[in-house]
Amino acid sequence: MKDKGLSRRRFFLIAGWVGLLSSIASSAAGAVKYMFPNVLYEPPKAFKLGQPVGFPKNSVTLVPEKRIFIVNEKDGIPGLRIVSAICTHMGCTPKWVEANNRWECPCHGSVFDIKGNVIAGPAPKPLPWYKVTIGSDGRLFVDTNDVVKYDNSLKV
Ligand code: FES
Repeated sequence: MKDKGLSRRRFFLIAGWVGLLSSIASSAAGAVKYMFPNVLYEPPKAFKLGQPVGFPKNSVTLVPEKRIFIVNEKDGIPGLRIVSAICTHMGCTPKWVEANNRWECPCHGSVFDIKGNVIAGPAPKPLPWYKVTIGSDGRLFVDTNDVVKYDNSLKV
């Protein structure tokens, strides 16, 4: 006599395939989701700072939370300029040493002149300078994606 419905063997065969394929699909979905994290830990590359008047002439000011220096009217270049405070060797924060008119990295001894050029130590590249503009609210706007020459300044 011929069986009319689903045989027991066929039922378990289909159930096995469904289980196997759903397991593979959920693993693949998990792997794809892993590639796109829910939280981005990288700080924004473009940001606002305070009003230009907050940075006196003939000064170099560290903004530690943004890891930049604001250079105002140093080395005979008028206007505000922004330079990275991330050493190009291994990422420490160089210190501005006013007496020597240069940045000195405490980690491995790299030294950068007022233009950001490496003058000593293991740093492979100069400190990059970033474009700075004034926003509509009068605050400084820095875009660290936009690297400029060291003498590119914002006249205020
Ligand atoms: S991190 Fe600055 S010299 Fe190594």
